[in-house]
Amino acid sequence: MQMVRTMLKNKVGMKLGFVIIAVFIVVLSILGVTIDRMFSNFYTSDMSTEVDELATHFAMMAQPPDAPTEQMLLKFADFSNVSIFYVNKDGKVQDYSGEEELAEASFIHQGDIKTIFSGQTIRLKYEAASGNRYFVTAKPIVKEQAGESQVMSALYVLSSSKHMDDSVVAMRRLLVLSGIGAFLLALGITWIVAHLLSRPLLQMQQATRKIAVGELETRLNISRDDEIGSLAAAINNLAEDLQNYRDTRQEFFANISHELRTPITYLEGYSKVIKERLYSTEEERDQYLDVLHQEAKRLQHLVDDLFELSKMEEGKISLSLEWIDLAEVIDNAVHKVQLKASDKGLALSTKLNRRTSWVYGDGLRMEQVILNLLENSVRYTEQGEISIMLDQTDSYVFVKVKDTGIGIAAEELPYVFERFYRVEKSRSRQHGGSGLGLSIAKKLVELQGGEIFVNSRLGQGTTFEIRFKQEEQGGST
Ligand SMILES: Nc1ncnc2c1ncn2[C@@H]1O[C@H](COP(=O)(O)OP(=O)(O)OP(=O)(O)O)[C@@H](O)[C@H]1O
Ligand SMILES: [Mg+2]
Repeated sequence: MQMVRTMLKNKVGMKLGFVIIAVFIVVLSILGVTIDRMFSNFYTSDMSTEVDELATHFAMMAQPPDAPTEQMLLKFADFSNVSIFYVNKDGKVQDYSGEEELAEASFIHQGDIKTIFSGQTIRLKYEAASGNRYFVTAKPIVKEQAGESQVMSALYVLSSSKHMDDSVVAMRRLLVLSGIGAFLLALGITWIVAHLLSRPLLQMQQATRKIAVGELETRLNISRDDEIGSLAAAINNLAEDLQNYRDTRQEFFANISHELRTPITYLEGYSKVIKERLYSTEEERDQYLDVLHQEAKRLQHLVDDLFELSKMEEGKISLSLEWIDLAEVIDNAVHKVQLKASDKGLALSTKLNRRTSWVYGDGLRMEQVILNLLENSVRYTEQGEISIMLDQTDSYVFVKVKDTGIGIAAEELPYVFERFYRVEKSRSRQHGGSGLGLSIAKKLVELQGGEIFVNSRLGQGTTFEIRFKQEEQGGST
């Protein structure tokens, strides 16, 4: 009952099961019919040959001059398990031995007698009133006289097919039994298929429903190394990703409010001080105004970045892609950070391979990326130099921005491209960062088909690298 219910619920299993059972039935019926035919034909031809041979034999024996007595022949027939009949020209039975039920001799027809007396053999099948079937062969008994042969009488030999029929019945019973066995087997296979196939599918359906309504902790416990297993794994991954996404989104909003709150507190506090004239000198007031200006700028920067980021996340940012000269882009970016770098006493060197500097991208966005990297380097380097390098390998063009700054610890490295991630929160803020620069840079690089990598040693320096696949292009001169 349970089995049937599972099978009915599992439509895939049911369909497959039906197919399996149908195939089983078709194959079995064809096989059964063939075997049945084969056996019946074999028995039939075997028996008719046997009866034929016996008839020939007896007809020979009955030939004068050295024929044994009729009585002896009848005995022989008894031994051979056949019935024999001597029939004269008028169709009258002269003598017989064998089965009682044949005594009426209704298998003898006048037409046949004529044929036999003309010297030919007759073969027929006869069914007695009891339903027993007989193979019948009738032959003439010939007497040679002075070189002339004359038919004396007809000899009928009958052999019951009872044995054969029994065997055929037994064989058919065997066939039916094995058919039933095979059917049950097919049913079993259907059940197993339903279990192996449909059950996990149903589980997955339930799991996805749950995930859809927000139960993101839902996980499937199906570990198999086939397509169903990988589908289950994919669903688990999806749930995990969604969960991550939900968590980071919450974190994201928490971060935004936090980031906004700090400058706003400054703005509120310092503007109040100025409004209520709580300063003693002009200089002090200018200082406060400076802070106000700084914080307003920071707020602007933050809002711009957030806006940019959200546009990118929604895929709404439009890039104007064309063949751009990376060397030129780098020159522009370097020019912009030159002042900041020399203010801090940092050397800024470039090493650009100008022959292979063309990539397909958006010039302004590319400059923004490189500027982000350069600004970071300036911001997080106290002494030494910042070098920027452009070159290519066989498969890609790359830009490296290298500094001798504070570096990033290995355990922090995987996170630097995340939104709002700052290695050392307070210090970074003092440097003026909000932790969005690298996540924006990464997104922009990826939108232009590139990749970004970071390599760093704490206290020794950091290298950022962006790579663009080398493509067929006509921009190079
Ligand atoms: N060249 C570098 N050397 C050392 N640390 C770095 C370097 N570049 C980035 N970092 C670390 O990675 C963090 C993330 O950098 P990111 O550019 O995303 O943010 P930010 O510079 O703090 O702020 P923003 O760029 O949004 O103004 C930084 O806060 C800093 O701690
Ligand atoms: Mg930055």
